[in-house]
Amino acid sequence: KKLLLVDVDCGVDDAQAMMMALAAPEAEVLGITCCFGNTTVDHVCKNVLRVLQVCNRMEIPVFRGASNSLLAEVNPQFTHFGGDGLGDAEDPTSPGLEHLQKEDAVHALIRIVNQYEGQINLVALGPLTNLALAVKIDPSLPKKLNKLCIMGGNMEGRGNRTACAEFNFYLDPEAAYIVTNEFTCPTFIAALEFTQENCLTTEYFRNWVNQDTEKARFMKKITAKWPQKQFFVSYDSYAMAAAIEENIITEYVKCAVSVELHGRYARGMLVLDTEDKWKKEHKVFLMKKCNLDRFKERLWNSLL
Ligand code: BDR
Ligand code: CA
Repeated sequence: KKLLLVDVDCGVDDAQAMMMALAAPEAEVLGITCCFGNTTVDHVCKNVLRVLQVCNRMEIPVFRGASNSLLAEVNPQFTHFGGDGLGDAEDPTSPGLEHLQKEDAVHALIRIVNQYEGQINLVALGPLTNLALAVKIDPSLPKKLNKLCIMGGNMEGRGNRTACAEFNFYLDPEAAYIVTNEFTCPTFIAALEFTQENCLTTEYFRNWVNQDTEKARFMKKITAKWPQKQFFVSYDSYAMAAAIEENIITEYVKCAVSVELHGRYARGMLVLDTEDKWKKEHKVFLMKKCNLDRFKERLWNSLL
């Protein structure tokens, strides 16, 4: 089985990615670590518990992590996923925070990776704060991972949070810098443009959430207030799919990367060294193309 450890800032698309993992017969989710991002870290924890409840998987341990970025320059953002990250939908049966583990996310991450040395696929779907803290405590962490899959950053200098930066990287640029430079394990990045270029249709989305299952009703409820867009982008689900099934990504760009920290406009932008100017040994795999049929199938199955 593929052993997964998942770090989230649980908004709607993190929930979709988690449900994809929970539905994959070949994957086992060992734990979920929470980070601020789409909403406050407490809401994130609560959202993760809600997803696990809907999927009947409350036995999976959930850990509370960073409540702000390393330099605490940004506040948790209210995104198009609503103030609570899951569309501000009514949820009278939502499990309480007493279901969280006592251990914090950063130490849990270190402990679990050491316990399953060489076997873990770490999937990072929010700001990279927990991962950055973990590698500072245990610098041997990256070489003990099987691989790291990240949703974050951009490839063409075009952002969704600012003109030049993608949301996850912008919320903690220093953490993104630390992770892209110090996690020298095989690293796969689903950057913003890749997720947008491989978006699904609103028709697929409508059929998907209108299935007659409890999970589909949950997904429909948390996306009810989504503005009707032309396309459906489940940002976080691509990094998850890559962690579960390597071949689902059919084309990569391999190069060294880093993150802009001081730009007047470009703070938080992912920088690609496509011409190998830095002569840096560690190169990452930026996803370019994916097998959309397989992706759609995995997403579809996540609500059955
Ligand atoms: C990323 O930002 C967050 O709002 C989403 O959950 C996703 O991880 C997309 O830029
Ligand atoms: Ca996310």
